[in-house]
Amino acid sequence: MIEHDVVIVGAGLAGMRCALEVCKELDVAVLTKVYPSRSHSGAAQGGIAASLGNSEPDSWEEHMYDTVKGGDFLNDQDAVEEYVKAAPRVIYELEHMGCVFSRTPEGKIAQRSFGGHSKPRACFSADRTGHAILHALHEQLMKNSKSVKIYNEWYMHSLVVDGDRCNGVIVSNIQTGEVEVIRAKAVVFCTGGYGRVFKITSNAFASTADGVMAAFEVGIPLEDPEFVQFHPSGLYRQGILFSEAARGEGGFLLNGKGERFMEAYAPSRMELAPRDIVARAEQSEMDAGRGVNGEDCIHLDLRHLGEARIMERLPQIRQLGIDFIGVDCVKDPLPIQPTAHYSMGGIPVDMNCHVILDSEGTKMNGFFAAGECACVSVHGGNRLGTNSLLDAVVFGERAGKSVLDYARGKDFGNVNEGREKARVLEKFEDIFQRDGSESYNQIRDEMKEIMMTNCGVFRDEERLKDCIETLKGLRERFKKGKVTDKGKLFNTEIYEIMELGNMLGMAVIIATAALRRQESRGGHFRTDFPKRDDEKFLHHSMVYDSPDGLDIKTKPVVITKYQPAERTY
Ligand code: FUM
Repeated sequence: MIEHDVVIVGAGLAGMRCALEVCKELDVAVLTKVYPSRSHSGAAQGGIAASLGNSEPDSWEEHMYDTVKGGDFLNDQDAVEEYVKAAPRVIYELEHMGCVFSRTPEGKIAQRSFGGHSKPRACFSADRTGHAILHALHEQLMKNSKSVKIYNEWYMHSLVVDGDRCNGVIVSNIQTGEVEVIRAKAVVFCTGGYGRVFKITSNAFASTADGVMAAFEVGIPLEDPEFVQFHPSGLYRQGILFSEAARGEGGFLLNGKGERFMEAYAPSRMELAPRDIVARAEQSEMDAGRGVNGEDCIHLDLRHLGEARIMERLPQIRQLGIDFIGVDCVKDPLPIQPTAHYSMGGIPVDMNCHVILDSEGTKMNGFFAAGECACVSVHGGNRLGTNSLLDAVVFGERAGKSVLDYARGKDFGNVNEGREKARVLEKFEDIFQRDGSESYNQIRDEMKEIMMTNCGVFRDEERLKDCIETLKGLRERFKKGKVTDKGKLFNTEIYEIMELGNMLGMAVIIATAALRRQESRGGHFRTDFPKRDDEKFLHHSMVYDSPDGLDIKTKPVVITKYQPAERTY
């Protein structure tokens, strides 16, 4: 059995920031199914929010209000306050760690505008901000390699739980296929989101709900899973992200008639309204037949910015357009559509990143979560752009501090290695034994298609019910597939099947919670209930597994400074 004081699953910004905190005192393992520098945090390109006030006077109060209004008042405001107050400090810390931010002419950290933020507060490194921070943190981890061991290309299967205490994880080495138990005094999940359940997504291949479903499997509820964010500028048909930085720098959105249609939807903020509003505006234009060339796409027009500004501020966007579709945004507009981008919901945690089991805040001992897989909830029903990198860094650090407080001086819990390993080996065996005729690739495609059409930007009862039935059918068919590679070494096929199992489970949870929430709020829009309904639905959803299927309870929203108000832009 492998032993570490603390095991962190996931090596994106939250995971690495957490590890840097924990390794100050304890021995820590970071486990990732890819490599740290390939984590999905690298895809958040346009910036990280902080009220530095380098371009215009700004304050944490304004950052807080924008975040709460952007989240359609579902955010827990006590947590939002802590989070936005921490922002300036963490930016300077990142800078001191070696993160290279773009500068103003006087040499200050440059800040650009972003959707839903009333002030320019996105600190950025051109349009590669997530990437820049990821590398700075990775370098810091390397510096601390004596007390941090990174398990690259290892897969986490399951939590080891004894009563109300978490004692480790069951994992396997993708390269060798060996299953191992890691015993730890505390486990931290920083496993990211689940955008891959949708056909069009900006998410990396790794964003497949493994962490959230492993938590769900041991009785942890999932909070607010119905809130999925669609980013307005995914590459048409492929979903790859063209950063919102493009609009922050002044880019236009045009429909098929060449009109800047945001005038009709958010006249005061135009292209820089929050993402939920812009994505719905785009979808409405396309549904009304005003897409570009009669197709399901919109134009992102940057031509007026000029080559010099594009090369200084948006070089990656230009390169992506050239590489993937042969379009140079200096000369031509880019075809885009809404793309599944971010999960506002996830594993419920308190603001110190302790995983909680219910609306009373009962803690699961030794289990923590941070980053996109966790729901604090600072983003409420819709996250503002640039608030995710901030979330990962602020709560990664907080998780680290909480873990130290918890694990310092603690003994390891009891782990029955044989029994735990056997559980996972049985899962492998079950898949290897299947000899059905169903194609896993086909099942995956059908799941993505139905989630996109029936549980996407617009939802209604009929489509959601149809979606849930279809998903149930797919889960049955999933049991009747056949694996072609039965070897142990680098058997990526078997891991993809396990990921698919997780995604199918997650998809049912998203759609079921979306069906129950008979209102429209943030990223969740019901065409049959188009208004927000604070009387009935100003609460978080808490989805539990039960012998009779999914059981949805509620948790109150923490409101401190800002009472829910009409959300207009
Ligand atoms: O568009 C973007 O650059 C994405 C940033 C984010 O999701 O925060």
